[in-house]
Amino acid sequence: MDLPVNITILGPGAVGSLWACYLQKAGHNVSLWTRNSIPSELPLSLSAKENSSYAFSCNNKESLSQCDLLFITVKAWQVESALLPLLPLLSKDTILLFMHNGMGAIDAIKDQISHHPILQATTTHGALKESSHKVKHTGMGHTVIGPFNSLGNQCQFIQEVLTHSLPSTEWNPEIKVALWKKLAINCAINPLTAIHRCQNGGLSQSDIHQDVVQVCCEVQQVLQQEEVILSQSELLLTVNQVISATAENYSSMNRDCFYQRKTEIDFITGFLLQKAKQHGISASTNQTLYNQIKQLEENFL
Ligand code: PAF
Repeated sequence: MDLPVNITILGPGAVGSLWACYLQKAGHNVSLWTRNSIPSELPLSLSAKENSSYAFSCNNKESLSQCDLLFITVKAWQVESALLPLLPLLSKDTILLFMHNGMGAIDAIKDQISHHPILQATTTHGALKESSHKVKHTGMGHTVIGPFNSLGNQCQFIQEVLTHSLPSTEWNPEIKVALWKKLAINCAINPLTAIHRCQNGGLSQSDIHQDVVQVCCEVQQVLQQEEVILSQSELLLTVNQVISATAENYSSMNRDCFYQRKTEIDFITGFLLQKAKQHGISASTNQTLYNQIKQLEENFL
């Protein structure tokens, strides 16, 4: 086994809890940091092929100050408020690893964290938090990890830590390209499933699918300007594959709207619209979807 790594998971929601269990199972020293910051012990059970239980110390300042890796799995809009108060407690060598839907959250705070090695990752593993103590691994996936800054470039060993814990993980020095491709999928699936209150599979209905095609067309023009090589037909094919592979699932934005929680729209479609504007690209379908989600949020926030 690799040397055990001291890891704190910031934001043990579905994805964070999944990684916490698998990293601890692989022999790493894992602790959790939650919103309320009150020190406690938290048991988590993981239902995958077999059921197993793990105990974590939670909000332990000593573990936080000694962690080699802070694995940040809060939602994009929570990154700033969750991370900034913890910075004075971290060692300057602590590696920051961000895993969330959407883009732009790190850019907003990069000057405050630039002395840390920074990594970004995206995963297709499925996770469902069935209760506060129970996480279900709903689908095997793949993780891509890569550097956000030059210090992060020296931390390729984290790819091995992840892949030995929850296979498979690949190191990609061009992580931005992987993040853009995931963003493109989220732009096509998330707002439409929230607005139509449907499972991902509902997007194959022809009237809704027209909008999927239109979103992909606008997104692909932005990708081209960002030097992400992906043709319109390849993008549409990928989106259609995700729609059919996850036909029974409700997207994260559908769930956020259903439970009347703030969504990730600003970091998904909002980020896309910012880039479209910079490149002088009209993205009217994405703009309409953005406005509709903002309207929904206004009704419940
Ligand atoms: O946000 C989500 O729900 C997921 O990223 C995806 C790929 C759209 C599947 O539901």
